[in-house]
Amino acid sequence: MQINSLTLDKPFILAPLAGYTDLAFRLLCREYGADLCYSEMVSSHGLVYRQQNTFDLLQTVAEERPVNMQLFGSEPEIMGEAAAILCEMVATDCIDINMGCPVKKVIKRGAGCALMRNQKLAGEIIRQVVDNSQVPVTVKFRSGWNHHTITAVDFAKMAEDAGAAMVTVHARTWTDGFSGEVDWEVIRAVKKAVTIPVIGNGDILSHEDGEKMIKKTGCDGVMIGRAALGNPQIFKSGAMMPSRQSRLTALKRHLELIARFFPVERVLAKTKNHAGKYLKGLHGGSTIRAKIYECKNFTELRQTVEDYLGQEVH
Ligand SMILES: Cc1cc2nc3c(=O)[nH]c(=O)nc-3n(C[C@H](O)[C@H](O)[C@H](O)COP(=O)(O)O)c2cc1C
Repeated sequence: MQINSLTLDKPFILAPLAGYTDLAFRLLCREYGADLCYSEMVSSHGLVYRQQNTFDLLQTVAEERPVNMQLFGSEPEIMGEAAAILCEMVATDCIDINMGCPVKKVIKRGAGCALMRNQKLAGEIIRQVVDNSQVPVTVKFRSGWNHHTITAVDFAKMAEDAGAAMVTVHARTWTDGFSGEVDWEVIRAVKKAVTIPVIGNGDILSHEDGEKMIKKTGCDGVMIGRAALGNPQIFKSGAMMPSRQSRLTALKRHLELIARFFPVERVLAKTKNHAGKYLKGLHGGSTIRAKIYECKNFTELRQTVEDYLGQEVH
């Protein structure tokens, strides 16, 4: 498939996950086979007002490309200005617009999934971002606001008309939040309705699930969120449930990447945020996690993971 000049064949994509998909985790997922990774959502206001913590979220290196940096906001002009700043200051291959976030704080400001209830404004935002970008603009949204208003097909057509180069459908409604059944029919209907690439999203728990979604819905690629946390191996084709060794190896590599890209004072917090995900369900995992939580610095952290990695388990 083509996202303008970017060519990706049936891609497996890392979803934007606020608090998780920073540079270290994106690069890790790329190393394990993700074809494209999305950043955490970034505030358009934060960019326009040049806030340092917003720019921190946009840290990138050439090795991780292609990358898609995601913006959120509800004001077309601010979104356009943010897109222009992004293109000027950050090496990104695409810009994604978040029109699916269900979180109260975001909805209250008319951004995220609230835009599914205001298609006219959503269209103006997409147009402004497209007009101010030198890279393809993509849009991520849901099936609709609730089960009485499944508007994804109309919304996708509107996005295409407004200049979007690709859409991602998280096939749940705003009222579903992050649980409830994912409706693959919605993805299939969107794919039929537009000519731009369509990415399916929601509860892909294995590589095999992703292949199934592509086959059954005709979508051009799939996006994986929560199932990639502690399990970047999911991006490898033919990947099975990762073994203890494989999980600890991934955690060790993740640690190295965190230490490479983040200041020393943030390494422990960043690692602890992810470590539990690698150890979930693992025999003896809670003991390892407790040890990791006791670590006072990066050297101790690395040693702890290496010690467990070297241990024979019977
Ligand atoms: C912790 C967390 C943070 C998320 N942050 C974002 C975000 O910043 N932008 C966005 O568009 N979606 C965000 N999402 C939604 C995911 O990108 C994805 O659409 C959703 O989790 C469904 O996919 P999954 O079932 O594979 O996790 C987030 C979801 C979670 C659980």
